[in-house]
Amino acid sequence: MRQLSYRDMLLWSVWSAILLLTPLEGAEEEEDVRAGCSTAVNDLVYIVDGSWSVGVSDFDRAKQWLINITSQFDISSHYTQLAVIQYSDTPRLEISLGTHQGGAEFIEAIQNIPYLGGNTQTGRAIKFAVDHVFAASQRASQVKNRIAVVVTDGKSQDDVVDASMEARAQGITVFAVGVGSEITTSELVSIANKPSSTYVLYAEDYTNIDRIRDSMKQKLCEESVCPTRIPVASRDEKGFELLLGLNIQMKAKKIPGSLVSEIAYALTATTDITENTREIFPEGLPPSYVFVATLRLQGSTSKLTFDLWRVLSKDKEMQAAVTLSGKDKTVTFTAMRLNKEEQSVIFKNGFQNLYDGKWHQLKLLVRPSQVTGFLDDELIQEVKLELMEPIYINGETQVAKRRGTDLTVPVEIQKLRLYCDPHQSERETACEIYSVCPLNRTASEDEDDCSNCAVGPPGQRGPPGRMCSYQLLQPLHEPSIHL
Ligand SMILES: *[C@@H]1O[C@H](CO)[C@@H](O)[C@H](O)[C@H]1NC(C)=O
Repeated sequence: MRQLSYRDMLLWSVWSAILLLTPLEGAEEEEDVRAGCSTAVNDLVYIVDGSWSVGVSDFDRAKQWLINITSQFDISSHYTQLAVIQYSDTPRLEISLGTHQGGAEFIEAIQNIPYLGGNTQTGRAIKFAVDHVFAASQRASQVKNRIAVVVTDGKSQDDVVDASMEARAQGITVFAVGVGSEITTSELVSIANKPSSTYVLYAEDYTNIDRIRDSMKQKLCEESVCPTRIPVASRDEKGFELLLGLNIQMKAKKIPGSLVSEIAYALTATTDITENTREIFPEGLPPSYVFVATLRLQGSTSKLTFDLWRVLSKDKEMQAAVTLSGKDKTVTFTAMRLNKEEQSVIFKNGFQNLYDGKWHQLKLLVRPSQVTGFLDDELIQEVKLELMEPIYINGETQVAKRRGTDLTVPVEIQKLRLYCDPHQSERETACEIYSVCPLNRTASEDEDDCSNCAVGPPGQRGPPGRMCSYQLLQPLHEPSIHL
């Protein structure tokens, strides 16, 4: 992290110098930067419980956890600024926003925070963060995301509702992390943003807090790079609706379906789906995401090798891509390695059906160390991936282009999305495809088929099979995609 931060800062200062020297040059030149979590412009405030119930050794664990969840950010005045508040009866500002340049300095500062001890006045601490810490940021106008993470082990002795509402009113996103058995769920829910399934996290005790480290890291990063939301079933998912973002809905011919929401688009050789990456992924890509495409490859297209989706740098270096090869019947995922080289992983087997001329849903679950491929909700294969580098956002993002050229390959696309939450992989179904989730069956007849379509945790996220039963309620409609 330090390496990256140093290089980026160097780059930044070089560009700033060039800009100063050549004020008439367009701003485009300055924009040759990577974007990802590390370059997100965040004001991030950790509000940590230091009351008696925590104890010295658990307080040390909490500090280490904060260090761990911070490692993905580039701590500098250009990118993420961090503050730490320890609280008991009163809040104490341990580290104020913008005091540290680089991760090493921050780690040392956080390790040196002495444990306070006292009662638990969480509401007061949140109010202090809003009024005195976020408010004191030197770059209030530039900052993109203001995020607070409240870590507590117990029930607050004061009211948390007003302070939390004030935080949200000011556009501050609040995560609540409850540790141990003394916590009150309703309190965490009122502290945090909605939905609680996203913004409230639990750990059994401080010894187990590293179990929620990766999910906290991913959530913080999602918050930084995925500002948009896609309406899915009853909840909005963070992610990128590429049909919309890439203007496919305007550029390609519609293939009508019975449901307005399930129109497919036919790309021809003269369609050009190319947009500036900056418009599509202004903050880059999150470390984990789910790529979903529902498509049909017909005729000669099913024999070609082409990039279904690709992000190119200004110099046409591949930043991220999903490549289909009808000749080998494979799917390839490409990303950048830490050393700026391309890395490609090939799914050699299991994707044959994708090239059979019918509708299919291709889903890739991308994680920092592996990619998992699915076809029509069935797991095909899991392959290892080396650490990825943030993408360059000053190039172009394209759809259905032949490898190495700007020629469009004719394909039909019904869905093209990138979800930021990796768990969306379990919730996303291929129910838009008739043969995967037929409408003319009843739920009782084919329960297995349908539960297979939407396996998800129950409760707020919707019971398993929700999408199927939703469609089953509309038997009069023709399936939107005919096979
Ligand atoms: C922090 O990260 C280190 C190294 O990955 C790990 O060994 C440790 O358990 C983590 N601690 C916490 C509290 O997350």
